[in-house]
Amino acid sequence: MKIAVVFGTRPEAIKMASIVKELERRKLDHVVIVTAQHREMLDQKLDVFKIVPAYDLDIMQHNQDLFHVTTAVLNEIKPVLLKEKPDVLLVQGDTTTSFAAGLAAFYLKIPVGHVEAGLRTWNKTNPFPEEANRQLTTRLTDFHFAPTEWAKKNLINEGIKPEDIFVTGNTVIDALLMIVDPMYKFQDEPLKSIDFIKRRVILLTSHRRENFGEPMTNIFSACRHLVETNPDVELIYPVHPNPNVQKTANKILSGVPRVHLIEPMEYRPFVQLMNKAYLILTDSGGVQEEAPTLGKPVLVLRKTTERPEAIDAGTAKLVGTDKDKIISTAQRLISDKQAYLEMSTKANPYGDGKSAKRIIDILLEKVK
Ligand code: UD1
Ligand code: UDP
Repeated sequence: MKIAVVFGTRPEAIKMASIVKELERRKLDHVVIVTAQHREMLDQKLDVFKIVPAYDLDIMQHNQDLFHVTTAVLNEIKPVLLKEKPDVLLVQGDTTTSFAAGLAAFYLKIPVGHVEAGLRTWNKTNPFPEEANRQLTTRLTDFHFAPTEWAKKNLINEGIKPEDIFVTGNTVIDALLMIVDPMYKFQDEPLKSIDFIKRRVILLTSHRRENFGEPMTNIFSACRHLVETNPDVELIYPVHPNPNVQKTANKILSGVPRVHLIEPMEYRPFVQLMNKAYLILTDSGGVQEEAPTLGKPVLVLRKTTERPEAIDAGTAKLVGTDKDKIISTAQRLISDKQAYLEMSTKANPYGDGKSAKRIIDILLEKVK
């Protein structure tokens, strides 16, 4: 059996890494294809996990739109799949790489395995286009690897046969446990010089397309206000390279004392930064899954989430993108010790670090 694995962006690379490593460890016939929907942020992750793809479709363009990503993935992956003839193609999550690669496999009658299947907001425009991508990918999928029982239930409610759904945990926890290193010391400024004990560090990540414009302006203005009104707070924001994000971040946050706008970080120091931060503000999917394991309170800067488990566990709160709501919720966690402690309990609803192993075992048993 030959297993093909495709990914293209930072989060997919992180969440496919343990699968690639497990295929290598067991010496199974496999082929790694990267679309490079992301370039620098993908290469960072290939380096840290020491993954050398067999094919690099190199599709990223500056400020690309969804038409470009979709058509480039479809057109560029076709000859690779025709040549390699895998018995199954694994795609991950909800990116346009996942959906378009799944569509290409479907057109070529190659079975699709969907890693992180069944997440839902049931709101087609939020997150955009990810909710549609993941629903469409479900329709193309033969083997649904659901991270949690909640995700499995969503798939059953949509008519997917229970025998085609496998609850495996989320491979993000495999990656996190591979990389987490409490002894890690920051090598570079400004992180090297920040006193994480005396200062309260807020870590921000924000990049969602549906937040471009006013919502992102609100998020950044709220962060600026929190820093300006709390003299012991520092804000660290590894700014996503999307030009729409960069423009707004520079306009509102650049040059503000105790605000550090930095480049997207390598995974090892980023995990350490999550671990040392006082509070995390994010619209990221992956960060919502990682932070509970580290016992870090997370405010989710979105109207909806497809990851309710962390909210149910009490470590995350959905605050949306209203400036006043972000300020009041974050300020409470800064000023009220009890409120902070209530959100800092460790919880891990997402996996035990063995998801990749389970996924490969299932494929070996089920793929004919
Ligand atoms: C993509 C995914 C999103 C995921 C996010 C993770 C889609 C539609 N979106 O969004 O689901 O949450 O990745 O970060 O699949 N860029 C660079 N270098 C990089 C990466 C991006 O310069 O390494 C810039 C380029 O100008 C690029 C732009 O960012 O055109 C947008 O990249 P794209 O992958 O289309 O969208 P993201 O917002 O990154
Ligand atoms: N991440 C990273 N460096 C950073 C910011 C995030 O390595 O500077 C990691 C983070 O730990 C998580 C993943 O990237 O595993 C999330 O990616 P992103 O937020 O871009 O995408 P999403 O998860 O929202 O699709």
